[in-house]
Amino acid sequence: MAKPRALFLFLLFLLVNACRHSHQQDQNKISSGDLAALAAVKESLTDIPGSDFFTTWDFTAPDPCSTFTGITCSVSRVTTLTLGTGLSNSRGLAGFLCPSVSNLTELTQLVLYPGLVTGPIPPQLGLLRNLRVLSLTNNRLKGPIPSSLSSLPSLHTLDLSYNQLTGTVPSGLFTELAQLKVMILASNQLSGELPRIVSAEILHLDLKDNSLTGTLPLRLPSTIRYLSASNNMMWGPLNGLQSLLELEFLDLSMNKFSGPIPSPLFRPALYSLFLQRNNLSGGVPSPLPSSLMYGAGSIVDLSHNFLTGELPPVLAAVEALFLNSNRLTGRVPEEYAKNVYGGSTKTLYLQHNYITGFPLEAGLRLPDTVSLCLTYNCMVPPVGVTGCPAASDGQQLSRPESQCLAFSHGRSIP
Ligand SMILES: *[C@@H]1O[C@H](CO)[C@@H](O)[C@H](O)[C@H]1NC(C)=O
Ligand SMILES: *[C@@H]1O[C@H](CO)[C@@H](O)[C@H](O)[C@H]1NC(C)=O
Repeated sequence: MAKPRALFLFLLFLLVNACRHSHQQDQNKISSGDLAALAAVKESLTDIPGSDFFTTWDFTAPDPCSTFTGITCSVSRVTTLTLGTGLSNSRGLAGFLCPSVSNLTELTQLVLYPGLVTGPIPPQLGLLRNLRVLSLTNNRLKGPIPSSLSSLPSLHTLDLSYNQLTGTVPSGLFTELAQLKVMILASNQLSGELPRIVSAEILHLDLKDNSLTGTLPLRLPSTIRYLSASNNMMWGPLNGLQSLLELEFLDLSMNKFSGPIPSPLFRPALYSLFLQRNNLSGGVPSPLPSSLMYGAGSIVDLSHNFLTGELPPVLAAVEALFLNSNRLTGRVPEEYAKNVYGGSTKTLYLQHNYITGFPLEAGLRLPDTVSLCLTYNCMVPPVGVTGCPAASDGQQLSRPESQCLAFSHGRSIP
């Protein structure tokens, strides 16, 4: 009996050793499910000639986690997937995103670099419960934004910009994503209205260059710092923005917003303010006196609206100020001239208004860096003031007197 028993022990020893050995390998070895998902990803995408992203994806290699470009793993599971090299000389990938990506359930980050990937965004991406970053920018993705993305509890950054996405923005993206900080949906063909309340504690929301309609949400998160909805078809008053005290960048240009500009939007902390080409009316409000001044880097563009009244001193220190093509009246205050001569205001566009005077300082030369445009107002622009944009060259220096008279008598001008 001794012999078989010894043999048995010997075999057991081998077996245990073999198991321990393979167990150690399993620690690093990629899970078979993840490997199958990566194979499906490779099947559905190709390098555009000149791109060499997939050359390292050799499925016979013993350890894909350490040899495949674009993946990182943790304990045999793929945790980040970055598709494409992202090199500026690379044209990226073509093909489509296959639903099997969603089998990589430990993914925290899925990035597709700019390329020509087309087809829909797979709704199955909503299964990636750990996803924090989803960036599929600058490709040719089509179809709707899947509403399943609103069930990604960890999502922090969503960038689907510069694609060909259509349909409405699922309202759950604005209300159900507790971790969402950055949402960039710019340059698609998205339509429909925004929800009435945006409750995610978003810092950066970019919806520009779409076909969105409707009004601003009644309530936006007080955390927001960057908001753009430029070049859509939105309308209504600029309400709901006054309480956004963290706002540094606001671009609602090229819409159909109407009514007055709420005076809390004029504050130096909000140093990039773009409201041009809307249907805004009323005066440029003078906020309460404050020791804070706009400074270097500030830009305010209110051009191509229906603003009336005189220029408020508070905007005098803005570095680039565009008030052209409105219905502004009166003389330009001294403060403006001081900043223009001092060089702290670099651009001051006042053309196409009803302004009656500019306090030129006799003998002082405008700095070469300054663009000051005063054409087509109710005054003759001072000699030597030539800072108008090329497009307004060759136009009349002054507005016809009949219009100025009519305006100063309170009649409306067509
Ligand atoms: C992904 O998972 C589904 C469901 O478990 C399975 O049917 C499918 O074959 C998997 N895909 C790949 C490429 O392994
Ligand atoms: C633009 O504003 C005027 C009033 O100032 C209003 O009568 C008109 O309907 C507005 N147009 C749009 C498209 O909002």
